[in-house]
Amino acid sequence: LTVDPGGQDKNWTGWVGFIPEVLTQLKPSPENAVSILCGPPAMIKFGLVPLSGSGFAAHQIMISLEKKIKCGVGKCGRCNVGRLHVCEQGPIFSYEQLRELPDEY
Ligand code: FES
Repeated sequence: LTVDPGGQDKNWTGWVGFIPEVLTQLKPSPENAVSILCGPPAMIKFGLVPLSGSGFAAHQIMISLEKKIKCGVGKCGRCNVGRLHVCEQGPIFSYEQLRELPDEY
């Protein structure tokens, strides 16, 4: 658990910093573990770097894309990420699934 710099109060004893920095310092073990990323696309993108660096395989990293859902029933097309429909096939995908998509997604 971490807070952004300046977001801590005098009683805070947890990490301070952005997720990629904290993950780089923490070096979580991929042994019998799964990592779950959710949040803004930039945080997900930069969070993947230290997780991959710590040895997490693509199938051990799960990413939530629920932010892209609008109708939620497969009718509006708002949730398309490449060939995937987030509302019907997600909203949780493995990095293994998403890294096969073109970079623009
Ligand atoms: S949110 Fe409308 S099709 Fe998926």
